[in-house]
Amino acid sequence: MKFPDLLRTANREEASLLEQLDPRRLPRHIAIIMDGNGRWAERRHLPRVAGHRAGVKSAREVIETCARLKIQALTLYAFSLENWRRPKAEIDFLMRLLRDYLRKELPVIHRNNIRLLVIGRPEQLPAEVQRDVARAMQQTAENTGMKLAVALNYGGRAELVDAFKAILERYKKQVQGNGAGPGFRVDEETIAEHLYTAGLPDPDLLIRTSGEMRVSNFLLWQIAYAEIYVTETLWPDFTRAHLLEALIDFEKRERRYGGLSRREAEKSAAARGGRG
Ligand code: FPP
Repeated sequence: MKFPDLLRTANREEASLLEQLDPRRLPRHIAIIMDGNGRWAERRHLPRVAGHRAGVKSAREVIETCARLKIQALTLYAFSLENWRRPKAEIDFLMRLLRDYLRKELPVIHRNNIRLLVIGRPEQLPAEVQRDVARAMQQTAENTGMKLAVALNYGGRAELVDAFKAILERYKKQVQGNGAGPGFRVDEETIAEHLYTAGLPDPDLLIRTSGEMRVSNFLLWQIAYAEIYVTETLWPDFTRAHLLEALIDFEKRERRYGGLSRREAEKSAAARGGRG
């Protein structure tokens, strides 16, 4: 049996989707732009915050499913640097929601052996949010299963600025310490090591809900070769079955990283062979 852990509780639709999944072709890292909470609420004539509350349910389901599929890393875009432009009441609600989520879900996160990380500039968040986040990270630090990175007060360009600043600081220290300036190198690896996501594989799959065809300043460096999956489904309607559909779609794609497709490569090799 392929996914015994998930199949035990799966309904018929989920079981049939799981059947189509190949555990060997799953992405190592999934990143998700959870969009459409506001529209979900508007369509129901509810306040926007009701959409965020409903969105937590989707987040919970996706987190648990990814952990059970043994995905290495899941990154969720929960609050961007640009989100400060929203009304204060909505921001306060989002912060409270996050704290409630951490308080209620920490045991489940633990039970699923998930390690919680935060990427972004958490030092600019309200003190009580920082405290709860730090506690949750500390409590799950020894977990060896999936890494759950929550992007909080996150911006992709800001992340690059922070990385370049950290590299510059390292350079200064090295020059002051032993005058080893000329040997100092900056390459792709150096930059990756100074990003918030250092130690995580790059996302193989980027999912965006609610149909917008934008990257919205999310993981700009890391998604260089990610497969992008956009669904019209609004985030609060995004279920385990939707996630499995996205994974099935991902597994069918051929990733070329700028090279040739397998068929084209074979054709080209045969042509070279033919010319002797
Ligand atoms: C985008 O919808 C969603 C957000 C800005 C917040 C996402 C946060 C959660 C779902 C909270 C749960 C997170 C965790 C990690 C538990 P939108 O308001 O931009 O929707 P709209 O585009 O329809 O207005």
